[in-house]
Amino acid sequence: MPDRYYEIEGGKPLRGRVRVSGAKNAATKQIVASLLTNEPVVLHNVPRIGDTAVTLDLCSTVGMRYEWDAARPGVVTLQTPSIDTHELPLSFSGLNRIPILLLGPLLHRYGQAIVPMLGGDAIGRRPVDFHVKALQALGAEITFEQGRYHACADRLQGAVIDLPYPSVGATENALFAAVLAEGTTLIRNAAVEPEVIDQVMLLQKMGAIIFVDTDRTLVVEGVERLHGAEHTVINDRNEAASFAIAGIITGGDVLVEGAEQANMLTFLNKLRQVGAGFEFVPDGIRFFHPDRPLSPIALETDVHPGFMTDWQQPFVMLMTQADGLSVVHETVYERRFGYTETLVQMGAEIQLFRQCLGEKPCRFKSRDFPHSCIIKGPTPLHAADVTIPDLRAGFSYLIAAAVADGVSRIHGVQYVERGYSQILEKFQGLGANIELRGDAYSNLQIR
Ligand code: EPU
Repeated sequence: MPDRYYEIEGGKPLRGRVRVSGAKNAATKQIVASLLTNEPVVLHNVPRIGDTAVTLDLCSTVGMRYEWDAARPGVVTLQTPSIDTHELPLSFSGLNRIPILLLGPLLHRYGQAIVPMLGGDAIGRRPVDFHVKALQALGAEITFEQGRYHACADRLQGAVIDLPYPSVGATENALFAAVLAEGTTLIRNAAVEPEVIDQVMLLQKMGAIIFVDTDRTLVVEGVERLHGAEHTVINDRNEAASFAIAGIITGGDVLVEGAEQANMLTFLNKLRQVGAGFEFVPDGIRFFHPDRPLSPIALETDVHPGFMTDWQQPFVMLMTQADGLSVVHETVYERRFGYTETLVQMGAEIQLFRQCLGEKPCRFKSRDFPHSCIIKGPTPLHAADVTIPDLRAGFSYLIAAAVADGVSRIHGVQYVERGYSQILEKFQGLGANIELRGDAYSNLQIR
């Protein structure tokens, strides 16, 4: 069966308005958070993407019921009257990063949990050792057998959890486990990404007590039970940054509705250093090309409030069109430059380095990972047939094709549809010459 692919004719400036959806990396976790109570949790601004569909299916296997509101797009009511099973099917192994986050809810409501190992993008090893140690600190017994984690606990007990690195997923896992544990839990060196704070806000609405202290410490006072709540998922700052760059790099002018300055400060600072144009308007941020050459830049990714690793790929694309040498040091994932090989095939000049080309302390120093790069711009890009390796790389390929001379074919579109809602329609709405080709139903994951 022929796969689905996008065909894009490049060279047209993208112009107009695009509305960002709710954040994938907040909504999926909030679906899991709803398992912590037997009462209804109503979420607004939930994106209709592959990852939310998989997460809803996953949670349904343990007893969650959900209903999309036909009259209000993006509103879903979730309720789990009882947990029917503590065992997640192995078929969810490898689909996304969510199954491990069910450990806490299942342990609280069932006393046992069996979850498959995780998937995610091909951007590094992505282990879950911090998750496992956090749950063990709270009193869970965990073993790994035949591709699955087996956990059990009578009642989780508050503890001090020292995360070796401010991992988003491990922080959320520890939070879900700590909110109903007996006593107080300190999560030190926690992630404080806006998406994590959005979980804290939902959990607080559900009755949890969580203090966001100084120095990345979350102090959680366990409560006996959580109740239903209604919450609007934060907007997707990755999607906002992606469309911002799509507008700038094509020489266009795009108003990104729902882009929030507070969650994009570092991104906006970097855009200003590059010389790209942006302007704040009441319902979002307008991004445009300044009609003069863009300046090169030195950039290092980091945990919040640093420059997000998920902004790195579109920014590298932007740098291929800046006038001079740019340097990017990736400090969050050890292998997040694999996608640049395709950009080089399309005409970009990007060289990878194993050294740390930056000043930030980096876990990958002297560890032989190609985690820095130098980009020489500006280089004209030419069309190509490419296959998407992971979500954020996928959007970069779309932007590359939109800039390139000729017609590109982009395969593996299920990766971008996993994380970007109505991406085809949004590009078309900005005037891109893009069409879906191939078998419309093969590898389709969105429901
Ligand atoms: N890490 C460990 N051990 C662990 C957990 C993490 O060594 O137990 C390491 C990772 O290997 C990585 C670093 O810590 O080097 C940071 O990983 P983190 O746990 O923060 O990432 P994550 O929770 O798996 C989420 C997002 C990612 C985003 C990162 C960083 C979701 C579903 N994914 O991943 O988003 O890049 O935080 O902000 O929330 C994406 O949306 O495309 C994406 C990859």
